[in-house]
Amino acid sequence: MDPRRLRGLFPPRRPRFLRGPSIAHPVVAPVIRTNRLVLRPHRMEDARVWWELENQRTARRYLGWPLRDRRRSRGHLRHRTRHTRLRQADDFLALAVERDGRLVGDVSLHLRSTHAESRAAEIGWLFDERVAGRGYATEASAAMLTLAFELLAAQWVFAVSHPSNARSIALAQRLGFSPAAVTESHATLLLTAVDWARAGPRLRREFGIRLPGEGPARARAVLVAR
Ligand SMILES: CC(C)(COP(=O)(O)OP(=O)(O)OC[C@H]1O[C@@H](n2cnc3c(N)ncnc32)[C@H](O)[C@@H]1OP(=O)(O)O)[C@@H](O)C(=O)NCCC(=O)NCCS
Repeated sequence: MDPRRLRGLFPPRRPRFLRGPSIAHPVVAPVIRTNRLVLRPHRMEDARVWWELENQRTARRYLGWPLRDRRRSRGHLRHRTRHTRLRQADDFLALAVERDGRLVGDVSLHLRSTHAESRAAEIGWLFDERVAGRGYATEASAAMLTLAFELLAAQWVFAVSHPSNARSIALAQRLGFSPAAVTESHATLLLTAVDWARAGPRLRREFGIRLPGEGPARARAVLVAR
């Protein structure tokens, strides 16, 4: 069986007490608004659309997810509703992306390293094929990167795709990522805090990205208070 499938079925999660230090300002599932989209925690009300979305051909092909029936898909979504906080290494945050009240995609961040000077996160994206090619994935991912660099204070964010996943690689490159490594099965692209300082303000303006609160400092206070 493809090891990515096995990983999907049995995610390797170390117990919390073995996962090292916590970051000083954990990020707790925020609601982020852009010109066209809302990013917010997942909800069970979306179970039907989530089932359609996660079983689409491109998603299964490139994420290595198994075909899930409605019951398993509900379990998977429930799991996602609980992944709402980034505090320790391996924490996972998944946000639903909504357009006019309908679920159209999912963007996620895996916190990989918590040390302030080398804080790293991995971004993931998955969008409904029925709304492909409208820039929603670019807009939502730019919003997630805003969270990563401006709330989480990541020093770099990377994206891992299959080398034949041209649309995912093109998406990363539209956002300013550069190729960092490539093997037969993985293409890794990297965006550093320095890259973000150059490209982030333009992306934020272009897509009208609004974090909770007025700016990073206030937003952080709101998030930590929960
Ligand atoms: C990867 C994935 C999210 C890319 O979706 P996408 O539809 O190509 O991306 P976008 O929604 O940003 O659309 C981009 C297209 O819209 C166009 N576009 C239209 N309006 C736009 C706007 N306002 N802003 C940006 N782009 C816009 C772009 O020019 C681009 O067109 P092109 O494909 O002809 O170059 C999607 O293929 C997917 O979900 N794949 C399965 C999951 C996966 O592979 N994940 C990767 C592993 S984590």
